[in-house]
Amino acid sequence: MTTHIPNIDNKQAGNQMDSIDLRSDTVTWPTPAMREAMANAEVGDDVYGDDPTVNRLEALAAERMGKEAALFVASGTMGNLTAVLTHCTSGDAMIAGRVAHAFVNEVGGAAALGGVHMQTVPVQPDGTLALDDIRASVNDPANVHYPLTRLVEIENTQGALGGLPLPPEYVRSVRAVCDDYGLKLHVDGARIWNAAAALGCDVKELADPADSVMFCLSKGLCAPVGSMLCGSADFIGRARRIRKRLGGGMRQAGVLAAAGIIAVEQMTGRLAEDHANACRLAEGLAGIDGIELNMDQVRTNMVFFRLADGLPFDGAALAGALRENHNVKINPPRGGKIRLVTHYWITPERVDTAVGAIRDEMTRLA
Ligand SMILES: Cc1ncc(COP(=O)(O)O)c(C=O)c1O
Repeated sequence: MTTHIPNIDNKQAGNQMDSIDLRSDTVTWPTPAMREAMANAEVGDDVYGDDPTVNRLEALAAERMGKEAALFVASGTMGNLTAVLTHCTSGDAMIAGRVAHAFVNEVGGAAALGGVHMQTVPVQPDGTLALDDIRASVNDPANVHYPLTRLVEIENTQGALGGLPLPPEYVRSVRAVCDDYGLKLHVDGARIWNAAAALGCDVKELADPADSVMFCLSKGLCAPVGSMLCGSADFIGRARRIRKRLGGGMRQAGVLAAAGIIAVEQMTGRLAEDHANACRLAEGLAGIDGIELNMDQVRTNMVFFRLADGLPFDGAALAGALRENHNVKINPPRGGKIRLVTHYWITPERVDTAVGAIRDEMTRLA
């Protein structure tokens, strides 16, 4: 595999390369090619359907996902919420994982803005929702006590447990359960291209069983803004109305879509580099005393580790020291785990520098 080295001579890229930022793949800046495409983008009023660049991005996203249509939205959160509000009406119920981004990290939007009740089920160590748990959570529609269950949402890759890819067979098995109960299936595919790269399958195989799929342009794919919601022409037509209701009807959005086109055309094919760098990072960290890490959980661009019990410092102190002394940015632990994420701006050399910095600080703080 050839490694893409970000153009560090480019002025626009320079600041991104000043620090080693492993907090998330959302920290990625647009590439120089994206900035150029943005500057030269053809635009129009997208609420009138007049923006040729947005139209091109939507057609491209739909085609790559194997769906009839797609909608450009401001964020992954807006894409998931738009999907929920299009599939469900107020008072309906949906099933999602207990640590799903949509449940934990999207400000309760489905409940607050859609009146949609989330029924959560445990997320298994492999990132899946157990089919029996989904079945057991579907409310009996004949019983007047219960909200009507309309939707199941799964996350691919599953983020909170480690960027775990859910294979096509599993997604098809969730579809079969949905069919048994007449439910819709939405995939939060914020990082679905990472899942496809890790599984070595066409992303269409992961999207095919779903009624709707959201994927983010602004994470490992480096675009500055935006996500795509994909589905049938009828679904996307209705979703377009919901997006407008949410305040997401954008005007000359071609400036943003231009970067999105590069994200889909040029950045999806290189994600295996980020996965290889995550393995390199995990292997380096696993060799440091006081770090506990399960290599089996390193499947895409995320590395989770714990600090051993009994150390005289905690993860927050480590994060502070790394930033202060090495300009290496990591988030403090959540639930006892520290998550590091590789992305376009993290080269193998920068992985090695980060591992060295972590080793130094672990020794110094101990
Ligand atoms: C799995 C998952 N879904 C949805 C989102 C929301 O994306 P955004 O930050 O663009 O709203 C994220 C963001 O990190 C995510 O990790």
